Amino acid sequence: MGVDHLGIAVRDLEDATATYRDILGFPVQGGESLPERGLDVTFIDAGNARIELIAASRDDSEVSAFLAKRGEGIHHICVRVRDMDVALASLQERGAKLIGESPKPGAHGRLVAWVHPKGAHGVLMELVQIPDSDSLPRTEGGQA
Ligand code: CO
Repeated sequence: MGVDHLGIAVRDLEDATATYRDILGFPVQGGESLPERGLDVTFIDAGNARIELIAASRDDSEVSAFLAKRGEGIHHICVRVRDMDVALASLQERGAKLIGESPKPGAHGRLVAWVHPKGAHGVLMELVQIPDSDSLPRTEGGQA
């Protein structure tokens, strides 16, 4: 377990990346396009976790409704799990409100799943399966 990244919804990815790099002073790890989800992302190295800047690449993206309703800001928190099946079974047993029945492959072939914001006091929670999170290369990109 541990926080992998915080996702922040932004309107303009280039502008947000420049802010985090040039003004706030964080190293940029890299960017990624996730066309099937309508997202462009940049990962920022924040030391013990990452920041994922998320922008819409089309009007019906996964982040468009959030931006329209709430504006820019924290969109999700992503925590690492070693075994997704075990983690989801435990969450279901305890009555967590999951989004979807089963995990989906994210970027780099990693499994991701989601807990509904209504089941986590207002914040969308992403789970990412990283079997050995201690050896995660920090220069790698990542899942949205
Ligand atoms: Co994410």
